[in-house]
Amino acid sequence: MSFGLGRGRALEPGAIGVGPEEMPPLPDDLLANPLGARLNPRAWFPDPSRPFEIEIGSGKGTLLLAQSAAQPATNFLGIEWAGEFYAYAADRLRRAGVANARMLHADATEFLRWRCPDAIVRVIHLYFSDPWPKSRHHKKRVVQDSFLCDAWRVLEAGGELRVVTDHDELWAWDMEHFARWCGTGPTPGHAGATPAFDLLAFEAPATAGADELVGTNFERKFRAEGRGFHACVLRKRG
Ligand SMILES: C[S@@+](CC[C@H](N)C(=O)[O-])C[C@H]1O[C@@H](n2cnc3c(N)ncnc32)[C@H](O)[C@@H]1O
Repeated sequence: MSFGLGRGRALEPGAIGVGPEEMPPLPDDLLANPLGARLNPRAWFPDPSRPFEIEIGSGKGTLLLAQSAAQPATNFLGIEWAGEFYAYAADRLRRAGVANARMLHADATEFLRWRCPDAIVRVIHLYFSDPWPKSRHHKKRVVQDSFLCDAWRVLEAGGELRVVTDHDELWAWDMEHFARWCGTGPTPGHAGATPAFDLLAFEAPATAGADELVGTNFERKFRAEGRGFHACVLRKRG
């Protein structure tokens, strides 16, 4: 399949794109059998034994391109639900000859919930997630108690959810949720001990530029506009 956004050139995900043979449709009896769609995304890589990291909302794939080169012994899965950005990022990784990063065209929250087995992910990257500012759209934000429940489940012990945003109101929402999951109060749906996570300061990866937190497209665009940023890490206790 080819896509637009290529400025006159068709975008080709090629082998970087996860195909339907690797992720078949959800079964009809999913609600009766909620574990029935689980699969092993680590097997989508030539060496499934390597550490596995997921980026939610990869946009144009800038972080994946940099991180997959800097950490060649780690497997990266970018999940992007916007078809043209999915294809743009996959095409970019394919043309760069990357062997340790792949792209999935899906809703990342659904992927974690229905497809991911327990304790297989070392890092979940969530950078400049859509803020959905209207109250009636808040349910579309990635960070929800149900998402944190799934993130905790799929992370290895000591695994991390890394978050950066420019959006003050989204940050307040995130922190309200993180406070629950990093404290001893009730954490809806959580089966493990509390606190579920430790809340830590964010450390920039080596691939970020001198004044950058992560070096994604949105960070560069917002930095040029003079915006401020918020960032943190939730580390799974284990
Ligand atoms: C504001 S952009 C940020 C892109 C990139 N992370 C960056 O920093 O440049 C947010 C991206 O997340 C994608 N996205 C939002 N919710 C998603 C979800 N639930 N699953 C997959 N992709 C999602 C959007 O389509 C969009 O490309």
